[in-house]
Formats: sequence, structure tokens, C-alpha cells
Amino acid sequence: MKLEILEIPHPLLRQKSVFVNKEDKEVKKLLENMLETMYAAHGVGLAAPQVGVLKRIVVIDTASKEEKPNPLFLVNPKIIEHSEETSECSEGCLSVPNQYASVQRYTEVTVEYEDADRIVKQIKAEGLLAIALQHEIDHLDGIIFIDYLSKLKQKMILKKLEKNRKRKKMEDVE
Ligand code: NI
Repeated sequence: MKLEILEIPHPLLRQKSVFVNKEDKEVKKLLENMLETMYAAHGVGLAAPQVGVLKRIVVIDTASKEEKPNPLFLVNPKIIEHSEETSECSEGCLSVPNQYASVQRYTEVTVEYEDADRIVKQIKAEGLLAIALQHEIDHLDGIIFIDYLSKLKQKMILKKLEKNRKRKKMEDVE
């Protein structure tokens, strides 16, 4: 089932998500629905708060269009190690539609998480996957990539979003 993706400035996107306990029976269904929602929106990652669920759950797939899907399900993900080195890369977010900006991230991260079967695993990542992991784990703490930008850039993005929404409303009326 496709879920609705919340967009800034929705207040739920700013909440801290809670750890998922072992008895939670809704995790698998939520992971499935989140993956379907992410693919439909052509995203690389999606965190549960983006669909209004304040649980520490993330889906990521960094496979390109030519590659076969390679979904990664993460429950209670946590960065346990990161490189000293950082690099800057352009990022976007399904909750900040069509807006992109450069953000500094660790070049390499190691994340501990539970998979869909709640087995504890670790993944060491670099490149796009390392960025996606940091971006999505941020969502679980109410942090959005625009928080790393200057106040001016943040204002510009919010303005553009507002403008796009108004335009869309006008088109819907016509
Ligand atoms: Ni995002």
C-alpha cells in the first residue's frame, strides 16, 4: 500500500522517533509499504517519520535504474563508526520535493541495525549509500538536510516550495 509522504514544514518531521521493540508486529508491513512508497516516488531512501510513523525504521535502495532492486531494511539503525574525512555532495529529500543542495557528510560510516527479521547486522558503507544512511538516520532525530544550510538558503527553499504548492493548487483548480 502506498503511503502519503509528509512534506516540510509538517511538525511530525521534526519529532524524535522511538526505538522499535521486539514485540512490534507492524514492522514488516510498514517496511513493505515504505518500500512501495519510496519506489513510486523514485526516492533512494525513506524514513518512517516521513510517512507519519515515529519509529526508528528506514528503507534504502541505491541501485540505479539499470540494476535490479536491492532494498535495504533498517530497524533501529545507529552509526557506530565514521571516517574522519567528510565530503560534500548534492542531496534531495522526498519531504522537500524538487529541491537540492550540497551537504557535508562523513565519507564512510558503519551502521548497526536490525533487518526485517530483527537480526542484528552491521553495514560499512561509502559513496551514495553512506550519504543515504546519514540522511535517513537524521530523519529519525527530526533533522532534515536543509538544517545544514545557511538560514538564507533555507528560506529560499521554503519559499520555492510554497510557490510550487500554490502553482499546483492553481493547476488543480483549472
Ligand atoms: Ni529525506
